Amino acid sequence: MFSQEELLREPTVAHVNENTCAGCFYCKEVCPYGAISEKEIRDRQGNLVKKVAEVNRSVCTGCGTCVATCFSNSVDLSGFSDEQLYSEINALMPAGQSVFISEHGEENKGEAVEEKNWEPRIVAFICNWCTYTGADLAGTSRMKYQPNVRIIRVPCSGRFDPLFVIKAFERGADGVLVSGCHPGDCHYTKGNYHARRKFTIFRKLVSFAGVDLDRVQFSWISAAEGVKWVEVVNRFTDTIREKGSFLEYKEMIRA
Ligand code: FES
Repeated sequence: MFSQEELLREPTVAHVNENTCAGCFYCKEVCPYGAISEKEIRDRQGNLVKKVAEVNRSVCTGCGTCVATCFSNSVDLSGFSDEQLYSEINALMPAGQSVFISEHGEENKGEAVEEKNWEPRIVAFICNWCTYTGADLAGTSRMKYQPNVRIIRVPCSGRFDPLFVIKAFERGADGVLVSGCHPGDCHYTKGNYHARRKFTIFRKLVSFAGVDLDRVQFSWISAAEGVKWVEVVNRFTDTIREKGSFLEYKEMIRA
Protein backbone atom coordinates (compact mmCIF):
# COMPACT_ATOMS: atom_id res chain seq x y z
CA MET A 1 0.00 0.00 0.00
CA PHE A 2 2.83 2.41 0.79
CA SER A 3 4.98 1.34 -2.14
CA GLN A 4 3.17 3.79 -4.40
CA GLU A 5 3.36 7.55 -4.71
CA GLU A 6 -0.39 7.83 -4.88
CA LEU A 7 -3.09 5.53 -3.64
CA LEU A 8 -6.10 5.05 -5.90
CA ARG A 9 -9.29 4.20 -4.05
CA GLU A 10 -12.92 3.53 -4.80
CA PRO A 11 -14.89 6.69 -4.01
CA THR A 12 -17.28 4.68 -1.84
CA VAL A 13 -16.02 5.87 1.54
CA ALA A 14 -17.71 7.14 4.68
CA HIS A 15 -17.64 10.76 5.77
CA VAL A 16 -18.68 12.51 8.98
CA ASN A 17 -20.73 15.65 9.52
CA GLU A 18 -18.68 17.25 12.29
CA ASN A 19 -21.44 19.72 13.13
CA THR A 20 -23.89 17.03 14.18
CA CYS A 21 -21.52 14.30 15.39
CA ALA A 22 -22.23 13.74 19.10
CA GLY A 23 -18.92 12.01 19.76
CA CYS A 24 -20.40 8.68 20.91
CA PHE A 25 -17.87 6.78 18.74
CA TYR A 26 -20.07 3.72 18.23
CA CYS A 27 -18.97 4.02 14.61
CA LYS A 28 -15.38 3.59 15.72
CA GLU A 29 -16.27 0.42 17.60
CA VAL A 30 -18.02 -1.25 14.66
CA CYS A 31 -15.48 -0.31 11.96
CA PRO A 32 -13.72 -3.56 11.04
CA TYR A 33 -10.69 -1.73 9.65
CA GLY A 34 -9.94 0.81 12.36
CA ALA A 35 -10.60 3.59 9.85
CA ILE A 36 -12.35 5.86 12.35
CA SER A 37 -10.52 7.88 14.94
CA GLU A 38 -11.33 10.64 17.41
CA LYS A 39 -10.68 14.18 16.26
CA GLU A 40 -10.45 17.09 18.67
CA ILE A 41 -12.19 20.34 17.76
CA ARG A 42 -10.63 23.32 19.54
CA ASP A 43 -11.54 27.02 19.72
CA ARG A 44 -9.15 29.85 18.87
CA GLN A 45 -7.70 29.80 22.37
CA GLY A 46 -6.93 26.13 22.01
CA ASN A 47 -9.64 24.97 24.41
CA LEU A 48 -11.20 21.63 23.61
CA VAL A 49 -14.73 22.18 22.32
CA LYS A 50 -15.68 18.61 21.48
CA LYS A 51 -14.47 15.39 20.00
CA VAL A 52 -15.89 14.06 16.77
CA ALA A 53 -15.38 11.00 14.61
CA GLU A 54 -12.98 11.26 11.68
CA VAL A 55 -12.74 8.78 8.81
CA ASN A 56 -9.36 7.88 7.35
CA ARG A 57 -10.42 7.76 3.72
CA SER A 58 -7.45 5.70 2.62
CA VAL A 59 -8.30 2.93 5.08
CA CYS A 60 -12.11 2.98 4.84
CA THR A 61 -13.41 0.21 2.57
CA GLY A 62 -16.97 1.53 2.32
CA CYS A 63 -18.95 -1.24 4.01
CA GLY A 64 -21.28 1.34 5.57
CA THR A 65 -21.64 -0.42 8.93
CA CYS A 66 -20.72 2.84 10.68
CA VAL A 67 -23.48 4.68 8.81
CA ALA A 68 -26.18 2.29 9.95
CA THR A 69 -24.83 2.46 13.50
CA CYS A 70 -24.68 6.25 13.92
CA PHE A 71 -27.52 7.44 16.16
CA SER A 72 -27.26 11.07 15.12
CA ASN A 73 -27.15 10.38 11.37
CA SER A 74 -23.80 12.11 11.19
CA VAL A 75 -21.99 9.50 9.15
CA ASP A 76 -22.88 8.82 5.55
CA LEU A 77 -21.47 6.78 2.70
CA SER A 78 -20.77 8.19 -0.73
CA GLY A 79 -22.64 6.15 -3.33
CA PHE A 80 -24.92 4.51 -0.76
CA SER A 81 -26.05 7.49 1.28
CA ASP A 82 -29.25 7.47 3.29
CA GLU A 83 -30.74 9.92 0.82
CA GLN A 84 -29.92 7.67 -2.11
CA LEU A 85 -31.26 4.52 -0.47
CA TYR A 86 -34.46 6.18 0.75
CA SER A 87 -34.95 7.58 -2.75
CA GLU A 88 -34.60 4.05 -4.13
CA ILE A 89 -37.26 2.80 -1.71
CA ASN A 90 -39.54 5.70 -2.64
CA ALA A 91 -39.02 5.10 -6.34
CA LEU A 92 -39.73 1.38 -6.06
CA MET A 93 -42.76 1.86 -3.85
CA PRO A 94 -45.15 4.57 -4.95
CA ALA A 95 -46.66 5.40 -1.54
CA GLY A 96 -49.66 3.49 -0.36
CA GLN A 97 -50.50 1.93 -3.70
CA SER A 98 -51.20 -1.74 -4.09
CA VAL A 99 -50.00 -3.36 -7.24
CA PHE A 100 -52.15 -5.58 -9.34
CA ILE A 101 -50.53 -7.65 -12.01
CA SER A 102 -52.55 -8.28 -15.11
CA GLU A 103 -52.64 -11.65 -16.80
CA HIS A 104 -50.00 -10.35 -19.17
CA GLY A 105 -47.66 -9.44 -16.34
CA GLU A 106 -48.23 -5.67 -16.59
CA GLU A 107 -48.36 -3.70 -13.39
CA ASN A 108 -51.36 -1.53 -12.67
CA LYS A 109 -50.58 0.74 -9.71
CA GLY A 110 -53.48 2.23 -7.81
CA GLU A 111 -57.00 1.08 -8.58
CA ALA A 112 -57.60 -2.60 -8.33
CA VAL A 113 -58.62 -4.34 -11.49
CA GLU A 114 -59.73 -7.50 -9.78
CA GLU A 115 -58.95 -8.60 -6.26
CA LYS A 116 -57.64 -11.96 -7.44
CA ASN A 117 -54.92 -10.25 -9.45
CA TRP A 118 -53.24 -8.78 -6.39
CA GLU A 119 -49.56 -9.63 -6.19
CA PRO A 120 -47.25 -9.07 -3.21
CA ARG A 121 -44.52 -6.48 -3.44
CA ILE A 122 -41.32 -7.43 -1.68
CA VAL A 123 -38.30 -5.20 -1.16
CA ALA A 124 -34.98 -7.02 -0.84
CA PHE A 125 -31.91 -5.35 0.66
CA ILE A 126 -29.03 -7.50 -0.44
CA CYS A 127 -25.28 -7.20 -0.10
CA ASN A 128 -23.18 -6.56 -3.14
CA TRP A 129 -20.64 -9.31 -2.65
CA CYS A 130 -22.66 -12.45 -1.95
CA THR A 131 -26.43 -12.33 -2.34
CA TYR A 132 -26.42 -9.84 -5.22
CA THR A 133 -23.92 -12.02 -7.05
CA GLY A 134 -26.00 -15.09 -6.16
CA ALA A 135 -29.11 -13.40 -7.60
CA ASP A 136 -27.09 -12.49 -10.66
CA LEU A 137 -25.99 -16.11 -10.98
CA ALA A 138 -29.63 -17.19 -10.86
CA GLY A 139 -30.29 -14.79 -13.73
CA THR A 140 -27.33 -15.80 -15.88
CA SER A 141 -28.17 -19.47 -15.24
CA ARG A 142 -31.69 -18.70 -16.52
CA MET A 143 -33.39 -19.91 -13.37
CA LYS A 144 -36.97 -18.77 -13.03
CA TYR A 145 -38.46 -17.29 -9.91
CA GLN A 146 -41.40 -15.15 -8.96
CA PRO A 147 -41.03 -11.55 -10.14
CA ASN A 148 -42.30 -9.95 -6.94
CA VAL A 149 -38.96 -8.88 -5.50
CA ARG A 150 -37.48 -5.41 -6.03
CA ILE A 151 -33.81 -5.40 -5.20
CA ILE A 152 -31.93 -2.64 -3.43
CA ARG A 153 -28.21 -3.30 -3.45
CA VAL A 154 -26.15 -2.29 -0.44
CA PRO A 155 -22.38 -2.76 -0.12
CA CYS A 156 -22.76 -5.04 2.90
CA SER A 157 -25.64 -6.17 5.08
CA GLY A 158 -23.97 -4.05 7.78
CA ARG A 159 -25.16 -1.00 5.79
CA PHE A 160 -28.72 -2.16 6.29
CA ASP A 161 -30.52 0.21 8.62
CA PRO A 162 -33.61 -1.27 10.34
CA LEU A 163 -35.39 2.00 9.56
CA PHE A 164 -35.34 0.92 5.91
CA VAL A 165 -37.83 -1.78 6.91
CA ILE A 166 -40.19 0.78 8.40
CA LYS A 167 -39.81 2.99 5.35
CA ALA A 168 -40.51 0.15 2.92
CA PHE A 169 -43.70 -0.82 4.75
CA GLU A 170 -44.75 2.79 5.03
CA ARG A 171 -44.48 3.01 1.25
CA GLY A 172 -46.64 -0.05 0.77
CA ALA A 173 -44.31 -3.05 0.65
CA ASP A 174 -45.92 -6.32 1.67
CA GLY A 175 -42.69 -7.97 2.78
CA VAL A 176 -39.01 -7.17 3.30
CA LEU A 177 -36.15 -9.52 2.67
CA VAL A 178 -32.61 -8.85 3.92
CA SER A 179 -29.79 -11.03 2.77
CA GLY A 180 -26.02 -11.01 2.98
CA CYS A 181 -23.00 -13.28 3.08
CA HIS A 182 -23.03 -16.25 5.41
CA PRO A 183 -21.85 -15.50 8.95
CA GLY A 184 -18.06 -15.61 8.94
CA ASP A 185 -17.92 -14.93 5.18
CA CYS A 186 -18.69 -11.21 5.10
CA HIS A 187 -16.46 -9.42 2.60
CA TYR A 188 -15.88 -6.82 5.32
CA THR A 189 -15.32 -9.51 7.96
CA LYS A 190 -18.25 -8.85 10.30
CA GLY A 191 -20.86 -6.50 8.81
CA ASN A 192 -23.43 -9.32 8.74
CA TYR A 193 -22.96 -9.94 12.47
CA HIS A 194 -23.77 -6.29 13.13
CA ALA A 195 -26.81 -6.50 10.85
CA ARG A 196 -28.09 -9.60 12.59
CA ARG A 197 -27.58 -8.16 16.07
CA LYS A 198 -29.16 -4.85 15.13
CA PHE A 199 -32.26 -6.51 13.79
CA THR A 200 -32.55 -8.80 16.81
CA ILE A 201 -32.77 -5.67 18.95
CA PHE A 202 -34.99 -3.87 16.47
CA ARG A 203 -37.58 -6.65 16.11
CA LYS A 204 -39.62 -5.37 19.04
CA LEU A 205 -39.86 -1.91 17.54
CA VAL A 206 -40.88 -3.31 14.15
CA SER A 207 -43.58 -5.34 15.86
CA PHE A 208 -44.62 -2.30 17.95
CA ALA A 209 -44.92 -0.30 14.72
CA GLY A 210 -47.59 -2.77 13.63
CA VAL A 211 -45.57 -4.97 11.31
CA ASP A 212 -46.17 -8.70 11.45
CA LEU A 213 -42.66 -10.10 11.95
CA ASP A 214 -43.34 -12.92 9.47
CA ARG A 215 -43.27 -10.23 6.81
CA VAL A 216 -39.58 -9.60 7.42
CA GLN A 217 -37.03 -12.24 6.63
CA PHE A 218 -33.28 -12.48 7.03
CA SER A 219 -31.24 -14.97 5.07
CA TRP A 220 -27.64 -15.65 4.14
CA ILE A 221 -26.95 -16.48 0.50
CA SER A 222 -23.50 -16.77 -0.99
CA ALA A 223 -22.38 -15.82 -4.50
CA ALA A 224 -22.52 -19.49 -5.54
CA GLU A 225 -26.04 -20.05 -4.24
CA GLY A 226 -28.24 -18.96 -7.11
CA VAL A 227 -30.51 -21.92 -6.40
CA LYS A 228 -30.92 -20.86 -2.79
CA TRP A 229 -31.83 -17.31 -3.89
CA VAL A 230 -34.56 -18.74 -6.10
CA GLU A 231 -35.86 -20.92 -3.27
CA VAL A 232 -35.83 -18.10 -0.71
CA VAL A 233 -37.63 -15.68 -3.04
CA ASN A 234 -40.26 -18.23 -4.06
CA ARG A 235 -40.91 -19.38 -0.50
CA PHE A 236 -41.08 -15.87 0.91
CA THR A 237 -43.34 -14.66 -1.92
CA ASP A 238 -45.70 -17.57 -1.25
CA THR A 239 -45.74 -16.74 2.47
CA ILE A 240 -46.58 -13.11 1.79
CA ARG A 241 -49.20 -14.08 -0.78
CA GLU A 242 -50.90 -16.20 1.87
CA LYS A 243 -50.76 -13.36 4.37
CA GLY A 244 -52.23 -10.87 1.95
CA SER A 245 -51.62 -7.19 1.38
CA PHE A 246 -49.85 -5.23 4.13
CA LEU A 247 -52.21 -2.29 3.58
CA GLU A 248 -55.18 -4.54 4.30
CA TYR A 249 -53.38 -5.93 7.34
CA LYS A 250 -52.83 -2.37 8.59
CA GLU A 251 -56.52 -1.55 8.10
CA MET A 252 -57.41 -4.73 9.93
CA ILE A 253 -55.29 -4.01 13.04
CA ARG A 254 -56.49 -0.39 13.03
CA ALA A 255 -60.07 -1.62 13.16
FE1 FES B 1 -21.96 -9.43 2.33
FE2 FES B 1 -20.94 -8.01 4.42
S1 FES B 1 -20.29 -8.04 2.34
S2 FES B 1 -22.68 -9.27 4.35
